[in-house]
Parts: sequence; structure tokens; C-alpha cells
Amino acid sequence: MRILVFGGTGYIGSHTCVELAARGHDLVIADNLCNSSARVLERLQQITGKALDFRRVDLRDRDATVALLASGGFDAVVHFAALKAVGESCERPLDYFDNNITGTLNLLQAMRQAGVRRLVFSSSATVYGDPERVPVAEDAPLRVTNPYGRTKLVMEQLIEDLCVADPGFQAGVLRYFNPVGAHPSGLIGEDPSGVPSNLMPYICQVAVGRRERLSVYGGDWPTVDGSGVRDYIHVVDLACAHADALDTLARTDRGFTVNLGTGGGVSVLQLVQAFERASGREVPYAIVGRRAGDVAEVYADPARAQALLGWRAALDVDAMCRDAWRWQSMNPDGYGS
Ligand code: NAD
Ligand code: WQD
Repeated sequence: MRILVFGGTGYIGSHTCVELAARGHDLVIADNLCNSSARVLERLQQITGKALDFRRVDLRDRDATVALLASGGFDAVVHFAALKAVGESCERPLDYFDNNITGTLNLLQAMRQAGVRRLVFSSSATVYGDPERVPVAEDAPLRVTNPYGRTKLVMEQLIEDLCVADPGFQAGVLRYFNPVGAHPSGLIGEDPSGVPSNLMPYICQVAVGRRERLSVYGGDWPTVDGSGVRDYIHVVDLACAHADALDTLARTDRGFTVNLGTGGGVSVLQLVQAFERASGREVPYAIVGRRAGDVAEVYADPARAQALLGWRAALDVDAMCRDAWRWQSMNPDGYGS
């Protein structure tokens, strides 16, 4: 297939490009580089052995997005392009609505005009908010708790409404749990700008000496050891799920919404221990108060993804830590080094 990967120089997008290229797809990568580096493209070329076609386009620029879609002869779009920081979304909600929701509206209109009717969309477990029970299945109540989550829910609804109005439009909505890790080559990985708000990049930066110690947000959660529990999923497994989702859309006439997680919960302290084993580095930490908006325990029921896509996570926490550390130790300053 000829596939447009919007947000393709970002963390999950770049790993997905590797998997799609390996499966023989023809790719065009689009991104405005607001949260990624053009250096990713050289690294992708090293891994795939192919020069990738990159277009610098901002999804908020409707004319440019329409022109890109019209020019391409695309069979499908994979849509990663969004702002994703929960804390920042509380400070700048209008920017999040504009970038994520207006951007997605532009993309859907551009797809309609160009007659491209297959979409894989990055959603998030954030749409479940604080779930009543775990594991979380797709039919759990949706109740978002911050502006970022609200944009994901609205984007899902826009896509769903379009699918109802145009039964020929197919969408695969993928709700990721907690993506971590990196490509085993160590050439691409997660490179947050500023102080990382997510756990794994923070641990990596402590281990490599860029930060003094990890703050563990809460030691009194009702969990196995008092620290928060999440469903960490290796980004390479996630990348495979996108390729499987595209294959599923191509061989059926339906769309779907699926959770992408391992189905198991790992606590903050368990992840720190696994990382120390994998890296051979100590990760100093201090248990501090809970972070506003956090919840005790979230992990996926991934049964529907297995049934519909034939996909399941294959890589365990040790592989996640080993690969995250390889990326960080080979690139102590991320793509800036
Ligand atoms: P990322 O920031 O690394 O990648 C997103 C990419 O989109 C970046 O390269 C950025 O420059 C680009 N982008 C943003 N706005 C754009 C715009 N208006 N026009 C063009 N490009 C634009 O983030 P990621 O972790 O790879 O996440 C990818 C997707 O997955 C996002 O939609 C995110 O909300 C979703 N998601 C991420 C996580 C996570 O923890 N990483 C979890 C669940 C869902
Ligand atoms: C994981 C655990 C923290 C940092 C967020 C978004 C979600 C999704 C993924 C996009 C929690 C603890 C963290 C630290 C810590 N993103 N922690 N010290 O909060 O599950 O999900 O990223 O869609 O929408 O909300 O991920 O990595 O921030 O936290 O103790 O310095 O690590 O309390 O228990 P989270 P996270």
C-alpha cells in the first residue's frame, strides 16, 4: 500500500515507519517537526536502507493538507500528529483543541476530497480516565479528565460520525496504554523536549546522569507495593499493531476500536528494578506525594485486538528496559547529540 504517515517523525510514528517499510509499503512521512527532529529521517534511512519521502506540513494548514492528500494516490493514512502532554494541555487548552481537533478535521476533509477512505488513528487509554475496574475493555465508560484526553475523545467521535455518514470510510482506532522502549538498533527512540513528564524517559535520563533522582509519585496507592501501576507496551509491538491494523482494514469492510496493551500491570518500583537489572545502573529515587490527576492502576484487556487484528504484545518489561537504555546510552542527549 501507499501510506501517508502524519506525525511520522515522532516517537511512535518513526517506529511504525520502520515496520511499514519492512512489510514493503511505500511511505510518505508528513510532520511539522513541532515535537520531533528531522534527524530521525537519517536514522530511518540507516535502519530501513531506503530514502524516505518527507514533507514538512502542518495539519492546521488546511490548504497544504488538502494539497498533500490530493498529490499522493494514497491507499491509507496513519495519523499520529497531535500534541500529547497532559499538563501542558491544562495550561493551553485552546492550543490543544486547535492543533488536535482542527488538525484532524482538516485531515478528514482532505481525505474526503482526495477519496482516501482508510485511516488508522492514535487514540489513548486516557479516554477511560479513572476506570471502574481493570483490566479495561473497550466498552468501559469513557470519561476524560483533562483537555488532552478531551481532544482524543472528540477526535474519536469525529471519526466515528464520518464512518456512520460514509460507510465506505474505514477507521482503525487504536487506544494505546503506556508506550515505552525503542528500536533494538538504538538509532531511534523517545526524545522528549524539556523535563520528561512520563516515567520511562525520566528513568533513562536519571540513569544516564542528566537528572539526579526520580520522584515516585505516591507510595500509598492501593497497589502491589504502593506505587502506581500501568500497562507498559514496547513501541515495536505497537508499531506492528499499526501494520496489522492496516492489513485488517484492507481485508475487511469494517472499522474497529481496540486497546493496545500487554494486559498486565507493572508498578513504578517494579519498572525501576527491571531497568536497573537491564542497564546495570542504579536509579536513585525518592517517594514523594501523589501527582494531581493520577490514578492507582490501569491496564488493558487486549482480547479484542487479538481477535480482530491477530495481534498480541510479544516483548516483555525486560526488553522494554533494555531497548530504552540502549537508545538513551547511545544518544545521551537524544537526537541533539
Ligand atoms: P510525538 O510528539 O513524538 O509525535 C507526534 C508527532 O506529530 C510529532 O513529530 C509532532 O511534530 C507532530 N505534530 C504535532 N502536531 C502537528 C501538526 N499540527 N502538524 C503536523 N505534525 C504535527 O508523540 P508520540 O508519543 O509519538 O505520539 C503519537 C500519537 O500517539 C499522538 O497522537 C499521541 O497523542 C498518541 N499517544 C501517545 C502516547 C504516549 O504515551 N506516547 C500514548 C497514547 C497515545
Ligand atoms: C506512569 C506512572 C506516575 C513520572 C500518560 C498520559 C496518558 C498517555 C501516557 C498519551 C504513574 C508515575 C511518572 C515520574 C512517577 N499519553 N511517575 N514519576 O500518567 O500513566 O499516562 O502518558 O496519551 O494520556 O496521562 O504515564 O509515564 O506519566 O506515569 O512516579 O516522574 O509513573 O505517577 O503511576 P501515565 P506516566
